[in-house]
Amino acid sequence: MDAYQRLSRVYDVEWGNWARQYVELVCGLLVKADVTQGRILDLGCGTGVLASELAALGHSVVGMDASPAMIEVASQRASPGACFVVQDMAQASWDHEFDLVTCTFDAFNYLLTEERVHSFFTHVAGLLTNSGMLLFDSNTEELYCRGHHGAHERSAGGHRFRQECHYDAVSKRASTVFRFEDGSVEEHIQRPWALSDLAGPIADAGLAAETAWSGFSGQRYDPGSERLICLVRKANRQRDEE
Ligand SMILES: C[S@@+](CC[C@H](N)C(=O)[O-])C[C@H]1O[C@@H](n2cnc3c(N)ncnc32)[C@H](O)[C@@H]1O
Repeated sequence: MDAYQRLSRVYDVEWGNWARQYVELVCGLLVKADVTQGRILDLGCGTGVLASELAALGHSVVGMDASPAMIEVASQRASPGACFVVQDMAQASWDHEFDLVTCTFDAFNYLLTEERVHSFFTHVAGLLTNSGMLLFDSNTEELYCRGHHGAHERSAGGHRFRQECHYDAVSKRASTVFRFEDGSVEEHIQRPWALSDLAGPIADAGLAAETAWSGFSGQRYDPGSERLICLVRKANRQRDEE
């Protein structure tokens, strides 16, 4: 079964609120950039929580996700100002540029190869306005090594399921298997990415990492951080604006 085909039915109850943590950070960035009615692209938008919150604030938001089941849930939110499409974020294309591109809560970790990461940044670069921003996050190896193991029995929205986590440090693959009580099973494969892994692909795409945090309280990212939250802009932006 494809990743999220079954999990989409419980995602909001269990994890939907995580995306709301981004609203304050995103709004702060938009205010600082003087963007009041922005064009925003949310890659790996999942059930559309962040996209809908930003659309409710007056922005025009496109949410893209590879999972038709997640896009179906997102579309049912019926948020004026937000539209949702099935598309691979490593090949993202649209008919206009964006002031801000977001990619939140581990969506980036589904990119498993350096080629896919290159493709992601290259396509995002092509979709940003000259002053546009990319805000994305990534789990690092520290997080998977410390916390991605064992089995957990869970219950969400009346659904019971078992979540089995395993991280293989040699292949750098994090597997999460979800077993539902109706017998359906789906496996998610992710890979850690640290800022040091991404510096080359970011620069090759003509972008530059401006700020890196490890959490939402403004903590600076360092090489031992379990999570990277990174703000990226076009590398030649300042030169062009002078
Ligand atoms: C953990 S969810 C996060 C969803 C949402 N961003 C949030 O904050 O709640 C990861 C999402 O990434 C999506 N995803 C994984 N690989 C993708 C790809 N190549 N292109 C687009 N979406 C992808 C999954 O379908 C899933 O909806």
